Amino acid sequence: MKHTITLIPGDGIGPEITAATVRVLEATGVEIEWETHILGAQAQEKYGTTLPPEAIDSIKRNKVALKGPIMTPIGKGFTSVNVGLRKALDLYANVRPVKALPNVPCRYPELDLVIVRENTEGLYSGIEHIVVPGVVESLKVITERASNRIVKYAFDFARDNGRKKVTAVHKANIMKLSDGLFLQCFENVGQDYPDLEKDDKIIDNCCMQLVMRPEQFEVLVMENLYGDILSDLCAGLIGGLGLAPGANIGEQGAVFEAVHGSAPDIAGQGIANPTAILMSGIMMLRHIGENAAADKAEQAMLAVFAEGTALTRDLGGNAKTSEFATAIIDKMKAADAVSG
Ligand code: NAI
Repeated sequence: MKHTITLIPGDGIGPEITAATVRVLEATGVEIEWETHILGAQAQEKYGTTLPPEAIDSIKRNKVALKGPIMTPIGKGFTSVNVGLRKALDLYANVRPVKALPNVPCRYPELDLVIVRENTEGLYSGIEHIVVPGVVESLKVITERASNRIVKYAFDFARDNGRKKVTAVHKANIMKLSDGLFLQCFENVGQDYPDLEKDDKIIDNCCMQLVMRPEQFEVLVMENLYGDILSDLCAGLIGGLGLAPGANIGEQGAVFEAVHGSAPDIAGQGIANPTAILMSGIMMLRHIGENAAADKAEQAMLAVFAEGTALTRDLGGNAKTSEFATAIIDKMKAADAVSG
């Protein structure tokens, strides 16, 4: 079966890492027709809008997209296209697996947890205004509807993936109404999952626990900003941002992208690590039912890590982005030759 998938190469290192990923995914034998679109500053220049309707329509039609990172200007300029896209498609669940890979020097080689981040509201609502010069307000929106559906997603995810425990992360001691509502939803919905262990942690303590004793966590569910921050913290526990994949899931479709951004400091040099977006691509293959191809790409990638000779610079190696992809493709060809 041929799949039509929207491809957004993105900014900075985006085109380099998505090109490497597309090569690996195609080498699995899965037939994919890519519909390529631009977003963000590139789209602003070409179409006069950062979120062109053509791109949104393409994802709505295909129901699945692979996306590179998109740059957001700091403190000025256009609002985040990443946030805009998640809202436009109501991609409410941001699933971010955190799993150490073989041969990668890191603090917790056994770590295997999943962050489930609410993706549509919280402080990311972007509702800010100047009250009087020198005083601004930024509103955090927490709704019962969005909280119920994200905690339900986390509990279902845990059940479907053989996880035994779900932890809610919050700051309900200070934000008694907003985070209090989130926690209440967690407790209410959790009653439908008697088979799962539940607990909750205040965000600051949770950060410390993640650094000291992360093995106590299996699935963590939280509102938007906490999920953003804890994802990067967890990426640091397993060897860096180059290794942290993600999926934005909603009823209308799914957009697969790495946790990291456009890495302007290393863009254009061909040295970025494509692992995070490749792993997002492997999640995408499973999402569209191509499990055998996903396993094939994953095993080849793990073999390249186990060998340790074609790793990128962030992991202490000297392979280029494209060389890392070629090493994975060679492993798949070798596996085909043995089995075929
Ligand atoms: P960043 O994640 O782009 O980079 C942080 C650090 O990690 C940099 O030193 C970078 O070189 C390194 N890094 C990131 N990905 C890497 C990879 N694949 N291989 C090797 N090293 C890697 O974060 P930063 O610098 O804060 O953000 C840059 C831009 O990306 C901003 O405009 C931001 O808004 C945007 N961004 C976009 C996201 C998205 O599209 N989902 C997510 C996060 C940030």
